[in-house]
Amino acid sequence: MDQIQIDKIKDLIEYERQRKAPPKNFPKFPDLPGKRYTDKDFFELEKENLWKKTWLLAGHLDEIPKVGSYKLWEKTGQPVILVRKSAKEVNAFYNMCRHRGAAIVREEYGQAKSLVCGYHGWNYNYDGDLIGKRDPQDFVDFDDSCRSLHKIKIELLGNLIFVNFDLDAISLKESLGPIYDEFKEFQLGSLRLVDQYSYDVKCNWKIAMEANLEVYHVQSIHPKTVHVGLDYKGNVNTFYPNGHGRMIAPSRSYPELPVYGSTSDSDPNATSYHPVPQSSKRLGIDPTDSDPRPEIETAGYIARTCTQSYNLMPNLVTPMSERGFPILMWWPKTINECSFDVMWIAPDWGEGERPPIWDSQIKAFNDVLDEDLQFGGWIQKAVDSYAFDGVPLSYQEARIYHWHQEADKIIGLNKIPQDLQTNQVMGDDWTYPNDMENRLKEYNSK
Ligand code: FES
Ligand SMILES: [Fe+2]
Repeated sequence: MDQIQIDKIKDLIEYERQRKAPPKNFPKFPDLPGKRYTDKDFFELEKENLWKKTWLLAGHLDEIPKVGSYKLWEKTGQPVILVRKSAKEVNAFYNMCRHRGAAIVREEYGQAKSLVCGYHGWNYNYDGDLIGKRDPQDFVDFDDSCRSLHKIKIELLGNLIFVNFDLDAISLKESLGPIYDEFKEFQLGSLRLVDQYSYDVKCNWKIAMEANLEVYHVQSIHPKTVHVGLDYKGNVNTFYPNGHGRMIAPSRSYPELPVYGSTSDSDPNATSYHPVPQSSKRLGIDPTDSDPRPEIETAGYIARTCTQSYNLMPNLVTPMSERGFPILMWWPKTINECSFDVMWIAPDWGEGERPPIWDSQIKAFNDVLDEDLQFGGWIQKAVDSYAFDGVPLSYQEARIYHWHQEADKIIGLNKIPQDLQTNQVMGDDWTYPNDMENRLKEYNSK
């Protein structure tokens, strides 16, 4: 993030802290239809459009470290195999033999010289080409070149593996727009996998995800954790094209850089140790301890002093910071159950086990997630009730409305029944960069 952007964000934090009402001309949100969380047809529309046509994080290169390593990935219900073709290339296919549809691989992870179907032995290379089959003479006039494994679009964002089931989809870079460059300071190509785990949650996937698209809840459900370190009143939301979003919420130490300890290199001018309140991203770390973990040196001032969290359409949220960070994803299982996955990535700590400080950070973060998840099942009961009609959202919760509005565009407005649609109330004037400029104009005119 360049200095001009940083200066704008600093002004916007002040704007948010001082404002007495939403920005001038900011749209008032109609209620979100409650049936978006319960309707079978809407669930199918999501499946056929959101999950089929957007870029999804399917894994990390560390999971398939060697040529021939593979990963079976079925988070969307589609059978997918990711195969490491070379140091820099990964291919993705439907895990589905072109003979009679048997699974090519059946373990979650493995390594193979080629991909051999266990049913009748058809053999495919890492590009998915059919390179051999048993008793070929019995397949008359048969063209092997038409029987390659069905491909899935794949792109690497650093070490992160993204897939898209739509072969005509725009590139990941194009989809991310300005976020692609904003991510550069985090050096995603050098971050290794620290941990991965998953929760089953008894609510619609969007209900669980939405707890991570606003900070309006912080004071109520995180009074002793996030609220201690995060100034939610200074939060700055940004609304990008294609449904992506960003929040930047100052930590209580802002505008000062936090100091981890007397040996901290994050504040070379610190002459003596002065503890700072723990921000949400540093929960679980005793500020009197120096942090042995290497830093992403290029991580900028905002990432170091604020929670800089992105939401990528459709289901990814990542609060990025300089010592490494989690990537959160929600995947539907049924209409009212989802899987909530967490992947942690960080700069290389060298040989051996990860520094033990990770254990306390991850545990503390998971405690916060438990706080976030506590209402999921209750809200599901509510949306399933006879009385639930809609969701009124405030300015602070605008990223939720923006997400739904943009999801409707991706699904196709003409496909969604009228009573399930959102109104398209956030136009270009509230899409990046105009959303920032509008608020800055107001701030500077005072
Ligand atoms: S189903 Fe794969 S070889 Fe027959
Ligand atoms: Fe939360």
